[in-house]
Amino acid sequence: MYRTNTCGELRIDHVGHTVTLAGWVQRIRKMGGMTFIDLRDRYGITQLVIDGTSAKEINDTVASLGREYVIQAEGKVEERQSKNNKIPTGEIEIKLTKINILNKAQTPPFTIEDESDGGEELRAKYRYLDLRRNPLKKALMLRHKMAHETRVYLDSQNFMEIETPYLIKSTPEGARDFVVPSRMNPGEFYALPQSPQQYKQLLMVAGFDRYFQIVRCFRDEDLRADRQPEFTQIDCEMSFVERDDVLRTFEGLAKHLFKSVLGKDFKEPFLRMPYSEAMGSYGSDKPDIRFGMKINELTNDVKGHNFSVFDDAQYVGGIVVEGISAYTRKQIDELTEWVKRSQVGAKGLIYIRVNEDGLKSSIDKFFTQDDLKKIVGKVGAKSGDIIFIMSGVKSKTQVALGTLRIEMGNRLGLRDPKVFAPLWVCDFPLLEWDDETNRFYAMHHPFTAPKPENLDKFYSNKKEDLELVSANAYDFVLNGTEVGGGSIRIHDAAVQKRMFEVLGMTDEEAQYKFGFLMQAFKFGAPPHGGLAFGFDRFCALFGGQDTIRDYIAFPKNNTGRDMMADAPSKIDDIQMKELYLKSTAPEE
Ligand code: AMO
Repeated sequence: MYRTNTCGELRIDHVGHTVTLAGWVQRIRKMGGMTFIDLRDRYGITQLVIDGTSAKEINDTVASLGREYVIQAEGKVEERQSKNNKIPTGEIEIKLTKINILNKAQTPPFTIEDESDGGEELRAKYRYLDLRRNPLKKALMLRHKMAHETRVYLDSQNFMEIETPYLIKSTPEGARDFVVPSRMNPGEFYALPQSPQQYKQLLMVAGFDRYFQIVRCFRDEDLRADRQPEFTQIDCEMSFVERDDVLRTFEGLAKHLFKSVLGKDFKEPFLRMPYSEAMGSYGSDKPDIRFGMKINELTNDVKGHNFSVFDDAQYVGGIVVEGISAYTRKQIDELTEWVKRSQVGAKGLIYIRVNEDGLKSSIDKFFTQDDLKKIVGKVGAKSGDIIFIMSGVKSKTQVALGTLRIEMGNRLGLRDPKVFAPLWVCDFPLLEWDDETNRFYAMHHPFTAPKPENLDKFYSNKKEDLELVSANAYDFVLNGTEVGGGSIRIHDAAVQKRMFEVLGMTDEEAQYKFGFLMQAFKFGAPPHGGLAFGFDRFCALFGGQDTIRDYIAFPKNNTGRDMMADAPSKIDDIQMKELYLKSTAPEE
């Protein structure tokens, strides 16, 4: 037997017991005639001690130890002289009676402690060492608990976990597919699923009326802190449901996770916000409602002052940032530069500073104090606040104000990661027009049903009508992040055919790409709907982080590389030939 106990287990009650532990040497300290070893395993750290009374061979072995050596240690549990209340085993230590080196270790390239001295790239290369560190270990433990509790809840609600294939037909809509060449079918390719969307709908046709899967998805898209090329979804689908049935069921899942993983109770139903309000008041379809600072529309309040920036604008809006009137001119200039240069993409920033002794603004030339007072009254600013105003095309300006709002929220510490503010955003537009390709795209995906009351517009051939069709779709938003999304689906072959037509697909194209789904709809498809949570994002937010990388055991870097395995990589000529492939990549 390698061990009788783990390194996180022993307490004062164990004093007097003889135990054997196994683990990694985290640190060795010598003090006077004593040597202390911190022994680490998945469960914690236990202090081992040897002193002048210890046998010579123990002293010799201990002298030969280095960091990260794997050892087996036998000894007696004793009460510590100086206790360490920072760790659960801090009241005891093990007086070594036997030590056995199970494996030596090279000196690790960075320190394996909570705060490591290793840079990101180095730690990615030695990910298995980084994973020995507490923060990453905790992140994976949280992930495990989330997955477990998800299964507990969904099982209790009669959901069946069913696996769907990873080698599927390529039908890119949204992101690019990762493709896999087929040796047995020369010149043909599978795609890795961007999500199991069509399969889960087919499972509904098959009669499995409550399906879920904790499933890997693959998308060849530009990466960000909250995006990985392979990521995990809690993918779900239900039959014989309307929108509210779906929302209630998965609100239940979110509440179960909050309670069982974080001990947080959410008694009230989550807020449901129409997309139009999210954009109008927060400039985002994933509003962070942990703080106010809502956008106020000012379009009709600021025209007619010979100020062309306002007079010529389709839209003018502002946010009130409380308590920052002491911001210096320099700070405001810096913020103005930021909105122009960063991804906010605004042309400029106008301010009104509200102070006891009056109003000061960057538009004093065009607006009298009384004019400014009207704006202040409209947006409800008070002494000590600054109003920031932007103007331009409506949708872009709202998004720019929304981005500024988040930036100010960050600067003022209003986005506490320990506070959770979930909500549903509903009633998204069904379609998005793209000027470049001159066609509509499905805002969620092409299987999302239009709202029944908009069906006449859906069958209209006018662009203006189609733009107004709302989708029976919803997103689950937590702290400014889109954690989940879903919809009630089209279950009627004729409506699905119309959807493909609206998306500019010919019958043949639709048949080639989605023939099997349309066929299935002819054999009694039940009304159905569902959603998928981004599992990595859910875990990261529960852990108080924005980036999902630490919640994935072996993630990719920003260019989609596995730094440890050095993938992707070239394959040899024989493999290329077997797959009927020729590379046209430029020689390095
Ligand atoms: P959607 O495309 O909105 O919906 O994806 C669902 C959720 O998956 C997460 N997500 C990602 N997480 C990490 N890295 C990525 N690259 C990434 N892309 C998406 C997000 C998102 O909310 N089949 C539909 C769901 C449905 O309609 O039922 C779908 O995939 O948190």
